[in-house]
Amino acid sequence: MTSQVQKTIVVVGATGNQGGSVANTFLASPNWRVRCLTRNPSSEAAQALSTAGAEVVQADLSLEPSLSEAFQGANAIFVNTDFWGTYRARIAAAQTDASAPSSAVVAFDTEVLHGKNAAIAASKVPTLERFVYSSLPPMRKLSQGKYGQSYHWEAKSVIVEFIENELPELAKKMSVIYLGAYNTNPMLSPRLDPSTGAYVFAMAISKDRKLPIVDARESTGPFVKALIETEPAGTKFLAYDSNPTIEEIVGIWSRASGKEAICKQLTIEFMHEQLKIPMELLEAMAFIEEYGYAGDMGLVEPDGLSTKVQTKPFEEWLKEKDWTEILEKGK
Ligand SMILES: NC(=O)c1ccc[n+]([C@@H]2O[C@H](COP(=O)([O-])OP(=O)(O)OC[C@H]3O[C@@H](n4cnc5c(N)ncnc54)[C@H](OP(=O)(O)O)[C@@H]3O)[C@@H](O)[C@H]2O)c1
Repeated sequence: MTSQVQKTIVVVGATGNQGGSVANTFLASPNWRVRCLTRNPSSEAAQALSTAGAEVVQADLSLEPSLSEAFQGANAIFVNTDFWGTYRARIAAAQTDASAPSSAVVAFDTEVLHGKNAAIAASKVPTLERFVYSSLPPMRKLSQGKYGQSYHWEAKSVIVEFIENELPELAKKMSVIYLGAYNTNPMLSPRLDPSTGAYVFAMAISKDRKLPIVDARESTGPFVKALIETEPAGTKFLAYDSNPTIEEIVGIWSRASGKEAICKQLTIEFMHEQLKIPMELLEAMAFIEEYGYAGDMGLVEPDGLSTKVQTKPFEEWLKEKDWTEILEKGK
């Protein structure tokens, strides 16, 4: 896309981690007008976007007509769909209502509906040049059906498939960004073992497996800007700042904190039964252990972008943290 005239990007999820990064990146560019969607324009995050120069528009992914209106005149649209808001709300509801349907299934259905609504609305925008959707790898397909109960991965894959199969004209304008694990992901925060004084990473992934890590709040925007401005439509991109092995992650954490750290590989069953970690998260670990984060998708990686995007490596980000607070939390 050329950038001589000001173009308009519409950002779905702009008050969140990924969308906020996209909105702020484009707000810093004189070539772009930024329109941010939110359910609540008076929230603090929405107000901050407005103060920074964005047009803030009320819209809800559950209501397609609100999206059609908000997408009008867009040259580019970034869409991120959220699984966890619905999932957490349903968990809370299920505590009082034993007959409530599974939280994961409800969150899956809601996320798929949201993604389809956004795609259908985007497909009707005549000015649209590029549509970027933030997905996760199609775990069920890549594992030939072995893994597929991690609904926050599956929902996003179903949305990509829907666009590719049902909205071919939009598909021609689509690029997909697959974010690695957030650097804030709890699995990257070890706990202190008081008996040894070492910090322990409890993982169901072997030491030699790689885990792409990304600062979603900072790096999503620059990567999405590259996907819109310099990479061809159809690019499927694995976004990360660093792609270390699990063993390297332990070393990075140890160097940054100055504390001894080790990795303990546990079984999925132990982590579910004893540590009470939901299968929704653990199945993704099992998939990564067997297939890697994105299986054999052959995604473009940061080094493969035609214009290099410089983001902060995980180790640098960690070194800048307030370690007193982190170590206190890990006790
Ligand atoms: N944690 C990880 O390691 C990781 C890695 C890769 C991908 N992900 C995926 O990232 C996604 C979450 O992204 P995030 O961290 O950017 O989310 P977030 O910070 O929790 O923000 C959620 C965003 O979604 C918007 N939203 C939610 N429901 C909406 C609706 N009905 N209509 C319009 N907007 C709606 C919210 O906007 P308003 O509240 O302002 O309306 C908010 O901007 C999840 O689906 C997760 O699976 C996570």
